[in-house]
Amino acid sequence: MIGRNQIADRHIGSLLEDYPFLSSFFKENGLDYQGRDDSTLNQIFEEYDEEEQEERAMDPELLMKQTAEFINQMLAFLNEDNEVHSLTILPGTDKSGEKEGFDSLVIRKSEVISIVGPTGSGKSRLLGDIEWVAQADTPTARNILINGDVPDSTWRFSTSKKLVAQLSQNMNFVMDLNVREFIELHAESRLVENPGEVIERIIIEANKLAGESFSEETPITSLSGGQSRALMIADTAILSRSPIILIDEIENAGIDRKRALDLLLSEEKIVLMATHDPILALMAHRRIVIKNGGITKVIETTEEERTILSTLEELDRTVLAYRTRLRAGEILIKG
Ligand SMILES: Nc1ncnc2c1ncn2[C@@H]1O[C@H](COP(=O)(O)OP(=O)(O)O)[C@@H](O)[C@H]1O
Ligand SMILES: [Mg+2]
Repeated sequence: MIGRNQIADRHIGSLLEDYPFLSSFFKENGLDYQGRDDSTLNQIFEEYDEEEQEERAMDPELLMKQTAEFINQMLAFLNEDNEVHSLTILPGTDKSGEKEGFDSLVIRKSEVISIVGPTGSGKSRLLGDIEWVAQADTPTARNILINGDVPDSTWRFSTSKKLVAQLSQNMNFVMDLNVREFIELHAESRLVENPGEVIERIIIEANKLAGESFSEETPITSLSGGQSRALMIADTAILSRSPIILIDEIENAGIDRKRALDLLLSEEKIVLMATHDPILALMAHRRIVIKNGGITKVIETTEEERTILSTLEELDRTVLAYRTRLRAGEILIKG
């Protein structure tokens, strides 16, 4: 464990060398540290008089303690990465207050589970329960266990150690950033060692997923729905350290679904996706059927369903090819 005294008198340059993630922490806390490699934190603080400290809402003692705490948390987080092997859902009640008809549902690493059911049946609610690691404290009264146990509260409250990455229908980009800057921001907060390489890979993969290509200079606000989703998926698959990925109805996004799922699965994760898309539903190893707010069935995808999936994929390719040609202004002919 690192304490306040071990950082107060160290040079900024050497701190940043040992703990590169401090740069974003310093920035967030309004500390002008750039070009000050040879100063210590104490020296920097001494330069602000009381009035300035007040203006910047700065409390040097507190900030020093928080810096030490942040370093400890980050180091712990880096070591404990991906320790989730299973996720367990224990039954709650449906919308009528009836107990759900299963004993416990265990989902393991590298498994893909789809969630099917009519609109309003409770698919997003189930994802929400998992995201919140519910302990009988949501409308469904379900309990979620991690590795067979009641999770310790750091999963819930820590922002650095995220259990779940959520991909949702609405990607609201409000930031004035281009694609590269956007990914850089994530790469930095996720402490990757070779950001340049990773950024490159994300842009390449995202472009493989999206119908129309975009570049690293494209402003994120001008990405189409499909492009922004492709970017989010590639970013999550490649950068996210979260062991569980939740996907809420991303089907109508004009992206290559199979490739997207393969990309997410190439890292050993648990993937749960709510979907109305038969292809996505059947791509999963198992599917949860939801009705009236409750889980009524868990079905393993059968061999026969897998052959049906191939047929659907073939149809899908045909539709996509026609779409591409129509978009390009062609007149369609049969065959
Ligand atoms: N078991 C439940 N008990 C009480 N309310 C529920 C339950 N399941 C879902 N709901 C509520 O029903 C509404 C619709 O659920 P939602 O998850 O949005 O449906 P879907 O995503 O399938 O369209 C939400 O307000 C949700 O909180
Ligand atoms: Mg929903």
